[in-house]
Amino acid sequence: MKLFVYHTPELTPTTHVPDCAIVIDVLRATTTIATALDAGAEAVQAFSNIEQLLQVSEQWPSDKRLRAGERGGAQVAGCDMGNSPLDCTPEKVKGRRLFISTTNGTRALQRVQEAPLVLATALVNRQATVQYLLAQQPETIWLVGSGWEGTYSLEDTVCAGAIAYSLVEQTSYSEEELSGNDEVVGALSLYHRWQNQLLEMFHQASHGKRLLRLDGHADLKYCAQTDVLNVLPIQQEPGVLVKG
Ligand code: MLT
Repeated sequence: MKLFVYHTPELTPTTHVPDCAIVIDVLRATTTIATALDAGAEAVQAFSNIEQLLQVSEQWPSDKRLRAGERGGAQVAGCDMGNSPLDCTPEKVKGRRLFISTTNGTRALQRVQEAPLVLATALVNRQATVQYLLAQQPETIWLVGSGWEGTYSLEDTVCAGAIAYSLVEQTSYSEEELSGNDEVVGALSLYHRWQNQLLEMFHQASHGKRLLRLDGHADLKYCAQTDVLNVLPIQQEPGVLVKG
């Protein structure tokens, strides 16, 4: 097993695919996707383009769909909700398909959708992801951060570090043996530093600050929880994730 961390979709190689690609957008797309599936959503269908989302979801029965659109942290007009995981209650999402488009997370999913195995992970479902990796033993694993419009995100990197840390803890691999690039070493160091102060870290992160300006305190608190959801979103067909 070898891990590679890529901080943004733009930095992710396009010449080849790994055995397994794990997309991370802690604030907030992959946290929302995991929460929606945990709350009973039938599937989550991700779009990088909002017009395409509106067009495709229009063909779905209206009582079986929910449209989530986010740009710049705020809800997109014409959608039923923004990108808050706290909106994904069973009352709202159970039995429905969540059609979602966000600034960076859904773009990251699209970037690796050709990989044979694509997972969506955040801190909330870190352990469910690690358990799956231990069972499947993929040879090469990419941890793809969503970043913000092409730039690095602290919270995605710390989540990549949390996954790497857990794999080291639960296997005989050393950090050195697992690390396929320097970014993995950096992600592990970041996690070692912040593992007990994740919420404090989010308050220092640029996207954390953006969400706080939009009154996102409760979202930050929710997204900072580790291993609270035993759910793993797995790509079933390009762009469509189901509960694994
Ligand atoms: C994204 O895709 O950039 C995020 O999920 C933004 C957000 O916090 O809604």
